[in-house]
Amino acid sequence: MNTPDKKLIIAIDGHSSCGKSTVAKDLAKKIGYTYIDSGAMYRVVTLFAMRHNLISDDRVDENKLAHLIEKVSISFQYNNEKQRHETFLNKELVEDEIRRLDVSNNVSLIAKIKFVREKMVAFQRELSKEGGVIMDGRDIGTVVFPNADLKIFMTADVEIRAIRRYKELKEKGETISLDEIRENVSKRDFIDENRKESPLRKAEDAITLNNSHLTPSEQLDWIVERMNKIGK
Ligand code: DC
Repeated sequence: MNTPDKKLIIAIDGHSSCGKSTVAKDLAKKIGYTYIDSGAMYRVVTLFAMRHNLISDDRVDENKLAHLIEKVSISFQYNNEKQRHETFLNKELVEDEIRRLDVSNNVSLIAKIKFVREKMVAFQRELSKEGGVIMDGRDIGTVVFPNADLKIFMTADVEIRAIRRYKELKEKGETISLDEIRENVSKRDFIDENRKESPLRKAEDAITLNNSHLTPSEQLDWIVERMNKIGK
């Protein structure tokens, strides 16, 4: 591919469990950009809230969280040995914990809170100020970087996403039925699309990538092709 002559910002938004992070990481590796997982940030805050017993019966104690969130410091590091991006909460490695199903089930409750979003968006912009970034999430092309150089809106059929997620969790040893996963995926779509704060929307200038029937390498080629067209 052509090497982009400036350090672009690439926004990848879309539904949960449709492989946004896989393609974002593959692309970042291929073009030497930094990958930033904005969903991991909301997951860290969720884990933190759960550890402080701030979530019960689908309700968050927002007053307490508003105070305690000042104690949350999120960082990322690439682990060369394990060849994976890792997430830290106050320097503690929490990469595996934030992907657990109980965190996934609660994360939408945290992601809809305005002050949480404001804090995360500020952090996302701070991390990206040098450019050369690929960030995936729900509101990257609409709110975080409305002027992103390339905006991709990814999606895939619910059933296909549920099956992919089921396989992933099974490999990690989680015992969970496909029905439960399907329900979790659909519920997250609904909450993401219908929340008041920064709902999941396709930006007007985003291009849609439905990857229901694409392999990871086909998706990557698809994006690289679009990147090569930037500025032409
Ligand atoms: O991408 P993910 O599944 O790891 O995201 C976890 C949750 O965080 C998901 O329910 C939606 C929310 N999220 C968000 O509201 N805004 C973002 N930019 C990224 C994720």
